[in-house]
Amino acid sequence: MRIQASNLGKTYRKGKNNIEVIKDFCHAFEAGKMYLLKGASGKGKTTLLSILGLLDDPTYGDLSIDGRVLDFSDKNTLCSIRKERYSFVFQDYALFENLSVFENLKLIYEDTKEKFDGKKIDDLLQKMNLAHRKHHRTAELSGGEKQRLAFARALLKDAEIFICDEPISNVDEGNAQIIIELLKELKKTKLVIVTCHTSVFDDICDEIVEL
Ligand SMILES: Nc1ncnc2c1ncn2[C@@H]1O[C@H](COP(=O)(O)OP(=O)(O)O)[C@@H](O)[C@H]1O
Ligand SMILES: [Mg+2]
Repeated sequence: MRIQASNLGKTYRKGKNNIEVIKDFCHAFEAGKMYLLKGASGKGKTTLLSILGLLDDPTYGDLSIDGRVLDFSDKNTLCSIRKERYSFVFQDYALFENLSVFENLKLIYEDTKEKFDGKKIDDLLQKMNLAHRKHHRTAELSGGEKQRLAFARALLKDAEIFICDEPISNVDEGNAQIIIELLKELKKTKLVIVTCHTSVFDDICDEIVEL
């Protein structure tokens, strides 16, 4: 599995001004590796991740998966590729606040062909130090707990491409270590793309892409 970005660009329009956030970006991303998109706040990490995750269109340039150039106007195809091949951990978690921890995880099964596996959910909750929160409303969780839940949800889906936007920005050191170990394990078989504005992932990633 390989994602190739060729001369990608993204420009946002703000009033009369254009802000060119991504400019002529070229890079290949391959399975079995972890890539770190690194740069200060506002450098375009989330923007680039959204394009690589097929959640946003580039203004110009091409993105191909396994040699096939994607058509960003074909939303149905993009959506099914996303559902089948991608797992996401969003910076703002994107959880359903009114659902319980368990219900947020269970929802994954509506989007995949995988069969519901209650034991897998319990094992993941244990791993992420969230077992005691299983039936609590998500709105009642702390920021760090929500981030771990978002990570657990991404792990529950057995996707090929794992995309994480600042996955440890809100967790304490002990829980950050849990996530770092999980990422090390994941990158053995998956394509992992992570953003971070600090150096915590420098040593475990295979390539640093400076923005
Ligand atoms: N939807 C949008 N409309 C206009 N400007 C945006 C939008 N999204 C992001 N930006 C701008 O693009 C720049 C990069 O943002 P972002 O990709 O979120 O950076 P990072 O994740 O590195 O902090 C910022 O200046 C931000 O204000
Ligand atoms: Mg960001």
